[in-house]
Amino acid sequence: MSGFGCVILAAGKGTRFYSDIPKVLHDLHGKPILQHVLDTASACGFARPVVIIGGRAGEIERFLEGKARPVVQERQLGTADAVKSAKKELSRFDDIAVLYGDVPLVKKETLRSLIKCHKATASSCTVLTVDMDDPSGYGRIIRGISGGVRAIVEDREAAAEEKRVREINVGLYCFDRKDLFEAISRVRRSRVKKEFYLTDVIAILLEDGRKVSAFKADDPDESIGMNSRADLAKAYSILNRRKIKELNGGSVTVLDAATTFISPDAKIGKDTVIYPFTVIEKDVVIGRRCAIGPFCRLRPGTTIDDDAEIGNFVEVVRSKIGSKSKAKHLTYLGDTIVGKGTNVGCGTITANYDGKKKSRIVIGDKVFVGSGTILVAPVKVGNGAVTGAGSVVLKNKNIPAKAVVVGVPARILDKSKKTKGKK
Ligand code: UD1
Ligand code: MG
Repeated sequence: MSGFGCVILAAGKGTRFYSDIPKVLHDLHGKPILQHVLDTASACGFARPVVIIGGRAGEIERFLEGKARPVVQERQLGTADAVKSAKKELSRFDDIAVLYGDVPLVKKETLRSLIKCHKATASSCTVLTVDMDDPSGYGRIIRGISGGVRAIVEDREAAAEEKRVREINVGLYCFDRKDLFEAISRVRRSRVKKEFYLTDVIAILLEDGRKVSAFKADDPDESIGMNSRADLAKAYSILNRRKIKELNGGSVTVLDAATTFISPDAKIGKDTVIYPFTVIEKDVVIGRRCAIGPFCRLRPGTTIDDDAEIGNFVEVVRSKIGSKSKAKHLTYLGDTIVGKGTNVGCGTITANYDGKKKSRIVIGDKVFVGSGTILVAPVKVGNGAVTGAGSVVLKNKNIPAKAVVVGVPARILDKSKKTKGKK
């Protein structure tokens, strides 16, 4: 996108979060709030945007390494001041997209349309707006008699009549760079908060006879700002609904959207059914025709191959479950590879952590893991092997293919001796 730069504002104190962690680093469905904004920017061609950071910058700076160009805003004097602090870094661009680091749900299509509208109308400023049922807390878009934008008035400074306006400022704009910095230098401190508001730039541009356009998005869910933990919870459920809608609109059945949580990054194959009360976290990959849940949790690093079944009260993390394998009840599988056609019995536990480090467990093809088996890592169970109910397989006591083990600690069952004794 030649001539178009991007700046993301993330230096705010996040006072309404009452947190020791910078607001934009709080997790939102598997990744920090700011990462959602970076992903949208990157999808629109802004690979290494400028990000304005402030207090407690160290943590954000580490997070941004290799992803963006951080610029420190020395004192958090408001959004206009934040943009001003990147004047030098943005000087080579003709136009600039300004994104707020605490507005993470805007879709890439919306940002693209905003940029397109800005170019097509050759405006000095194009602002993204949306109608909100409850606009409280947001800047209101004040329009003139002709319908054009006249100003943006912040909630805390708005008159009663202005507060009734439902069209709000999302916090996403395109600007002609020269006009923007010229106008920013004339922004005065706000009456109530004593900050320099970027939103005041709009009225200044209009005073100078510049063109300001508004681009209205249809979906208010995209536009919510993360100003409190309640907003974060709301965004989580919006992302979740978005993902489930996408799956149900395609080839995957998710039976109960109200009790199922699926990361936006999870990949799920055709004809798989997700039963209620299931949590599927970041980067989980599930194949075709699987049955998942009810009441199961698939954590990051999990791959479930085609036709596998994961049932109630099963947790899987950093593991791969082969096709046609089953773990249907009360099981924990961590750092484990399960082969094809294996049955993991009720109550199986992989003891993958010895208090210091995590180790791997490998269970082969067509294994029958008996109910209540504990497998202490690192250990391997050969193809076609059987573990008896309640057996405890100790670490490094690998089970050969087709062997049957029983007991605590588990030992290979010598069938010939047993038969003799009975006679
Ligand atoms: C802002 C807008 C408001 C809009 C809303 C959308 C202004 C003045 N108001 O209000 O019109 O409806 O977002 O969510 O812009 N920041 C800095 N440096 C600062 C202050 C803020 O980088 O000195 C960053 C924050 O980290 C945040 C963003 O700018 O990512 C917006 O700041 P915030 O304080 O959240 O503004 P809102 O009150 O939400
Ligand atoms: Mg905000």
